[in-house]
Amino acid sequence: MVAMPARRNWRTKLTASQTIVITGGTSGIGLATAERLARSGARLLLIGYNQPHIDAAERRLRDRAPDADVTIHRVDLSSLAEIKELAAVLNRELARIDVLVNNAGAIFTHPALTPDGLERTFALNHMSYFVLTNLLRKLLVESAPSRIINVTSEVHRAATLDFSDLQTTNRFRSWKAYSRSKLCNVLFTSELSRRLQGTGVTANSVHPGVVTTRFGDDRGLFGFGFRVFKTLIGTSPPAAAARIVNLATSPNLAGRTGEYFLGFFSVPPSPAARDAALALRLWNESLRLSGLDSIF
Ligand SMILES: NC(=O)c1ccc[n+]([C@@H]2O[C@H](COP(=O)([O-])OP(=O)(O)OC[C@H]3O[C@@H](n4cnc5c(N)ncnc54)[C@H](OP(=O)(O)O)[C@@H]3O)[C@@H](O)[C@H]2O)c1
Repeated sequence: MVAMPARRNWRTKLTASQTIVITGGTSGIGLATAERLARSGARLLLIGYNQPHIDAAERRLRDRAPDADVTIHRVDLSSLAEIKELAAVLNRELARIDVLVNNAGAIFTHPALTPDGLERTFALNHMSYFVLTNLLRKLLVESAPSRIINVTSEVHRAATLDFSDLQTTNRFRSWKAYSRSKLCNVLFTSELSRRLQGTGVTANSVHPGVVTTRFGDDRGLFGFGFRVFKTLIGTSPPAAAARIVNLATSPNLAGRTGEYFLGFFSVPPSPAARDAALALRLWNESLRLSGLDSIF
């Protein structure tokens, strides 16, 4: 596949009647994306977790886009029950969803299981994308043409999937668990786009760049090293947000689906991420782990 300069004719095309849902919209890349979209007049639904971050995001958006229509939900997206509750609220309260940005993510130094018995990197970084998207699928289809954007990372290239230890619980290593979860994002996107063919809903994944957010900062030695790395080569949250806004709004990308974007450019993801059989197996396993297999 040839790298596509999708930015060339970049412009925003949003109307005030559009509704955009952004997970992790209270910090870093998600907040910068929200800030940019808020000024376009779209209705925004943001999901965050830490109350001080939610309060700060609220103040910032009120200050920078005083007329924006923004609602923030506090949800622990590593909890299946809370994701299901959030989806029920959104399905009840929203007439439509034009864009869903699955962006919430983290890297954890120490292994921990969620109350659902899932490793928390896998739960937050992959299962939240999978479960929320599937539970909002009907509304997204009814709102077509609509777009799903899954924020992933170039580190997916370092990962492989091992179904005997999908969640990296044997000899947990934070970097391995994180890169694997980002490979899951790309595989999920490709299987999702196949399943959405003909519905008018597109699904793409994007690496936003190495970005100077608080991502990884509080993770001991790793956090220190990553902070130095980000400072040296990182891009700003607004610059990263431009890449997501481009995917969410560019008329040039209408109908484009199942692609992996390195910033503004569509490029092939890793060989593992292009393995359709692997993507299907991950889908089926995620369905089983989520308990949604009785619905879909
Ligand atoms: N920064 C980078 O260099 C980089 C590079 C490649 C990919 N990415 C990806 O970009 C995405 C956003 O990261 P970022 O750099 O913007 O990091 P960030 O500043 O730490 O933001 C992460 C967002 O996720 C939310 N979140 C974390 N745990 C949550 C939970 N349990 N439930 C609900 N929300 C939760 C956070 O909410 P609170 O603020 O309320 O905790 C925050 O809004 C992630 O998927 C990451 O993998 C980042």
